[in-house]
Amino acid sequence: MRVLVVGSGGREHALAWKLLQSARVQEVFCIPGNGGTAKLARCRNLALAISDFEGIGRFALVNNIALTVIGPEAPLADGITDYLQQQNLMVFGPTQAGAQIESSKAWAKALMQDANIPTAKAEVFTDAAEAIAYVKVQGVPIVIKADGLAAGKGVAVAMTLEEAIDAIDTCFGGQFGTAGQRLVIEEYLTGQEASVLAVTDGLTIRPLLPAQDYKQIGDGDTGANTGGMGAYAPTPIVPPALMERIQQDILEPAIATLRQREIDYRGVLYAGLMITPSGDPKVIEFNCRFGDPETQAILPLLETPLDMVMMACIQQRLDQLPPLIWKSGAAACVVMAAGGYPGTYKKGLPLRGIEQAESRGALVFHAGTKIKQQQLVTDGGRVLGVTAVGESFKEAIAQAYSAIGCIQFEGMYYRRDIGHRIL
Ligand SMILES: Nc1ncnc2c1ncn2[C@@H]1O[C@H](COP(=O)(O)OP(=O)(O)O)[C@@H](O)[C@H]1O
Ligand SMILES: [Mg+2]
Repeated sequence: MRVLVVGSGGREHALAWKLLQSARVQEVFCIPGNGGTAKLARCRNLALAISDFEGIGRFALVNNIALTVIGPEAPLADGITDYLQQQNLMVFGPTQAGAQIESSKAWAKALMQDANIPTAKAEVFTDAAEAIAYVKVQGVPIVIKADGLAAGKGVAVAMTLEEAIDAIDTCFGGQFGTAGQRLVIEEYLTGQEASVLAVTDGLTIRPLLPAQDYKQIGDGDTGANTGGMGAYAPTPIVPPALMERIQQDILEPAIATLRQREIDYRGVLYAGLMITPSGDPKVIEFNCRFGDPETQAILPLLETPLDMVMMACIQQRLDQLPPLIWKSGAAACVVMAAGGYPGTYKKGLPLRGIEQAESRGALVFHAGTKIKQQQLVTDGGRVLGVTAVGESFKEAIAQAYSAIGCIQFEGMYYRRDIGHRIL
């Protein structure tokens, strides 16, 4: 079969790479892809925008695409799945109605409350004065969230009243466009964060290995938030007994409540969790797609062919799929970023040493790279996700860092402490 992957990050490179390992997958097309997917054998990039649903649909029909996988949240929130389904295409990723679980934090919170899913107590506001009055009553710390998609920048964890008021003013001041016209103010939770990604066909839901990501730019979890600077899986923060509870108390009720709302949700449901000091899992947010970089740490451990899992979701027969098979051991992904990220950074810088890193057994997933005049150059803030699989975390982490030592580009930056939480 021929598969289409929509997106251009490390997540999409990892998806294309994993799909191509299946005996059934002959060829993968990436829209628009990156330098890594361009170099991947049996993979080709297409110069189409991810917002060009018509172009994507036409390509898929003309080229007999058997499966289309949507990477990022924006096209899902804009209804790419609905559009492609109308053309009778097989799409992995929820419809626009389902994607609301990520595209509106207020909608997701209401769903969690209806489903009795453990989550932070919260209220929704559309008026700044009312929001400020509420914060004054609740006290700090408190969390202010823009309702809509804000590229990871819409959440403020306010430790002081001034910060909370600032965050409310920023939201309603138009900083996040329509995403900030409504906001969710919620109780501050403490604990350890974990990501539980699950695949679902709308009836059955099955978790993947639990992962943990590193959101902040600096070592020791300091500095600005980023798209993610590294990840590892499976995280011991979510042992099997806790995963069982997450399945029963969070994943199953989420799918059941979506169904009650007549939403047939097929794709990834990603629960961002806080494991509180008492050991209880609470939902911080849901995402409607694979996480990046978590996917880069999870997929290398998956033995079951990914196309089989995805087709079982699309054809609503996930209950008949044998249990997912995982490699033993662990995987770690360390993101190499452009100097200055998540602020301003240079693009177009030549990259060296990727083959050497790969010859040491690392998987080098590309994010912000492209091929320019036959040369591989940087093309984004997060440039590479250097991933290694090992018998132990220690081995995986050591291998990833050893591979990083081979790679060079001007101004490159990476965290030195990925995996420190478990070592
Ligand atoms: N209720 C909360 N208590 C403590 N920290 C929170 C809470 N909600 C969010 N956060 C922090 O803010 C980060 C971003 O929030 P999240 O809801 O995941 O939004 P997004 O990923 O869309 O930016 C979380 O990963 C977490 O670190
Ligand atoms: Mg998040």
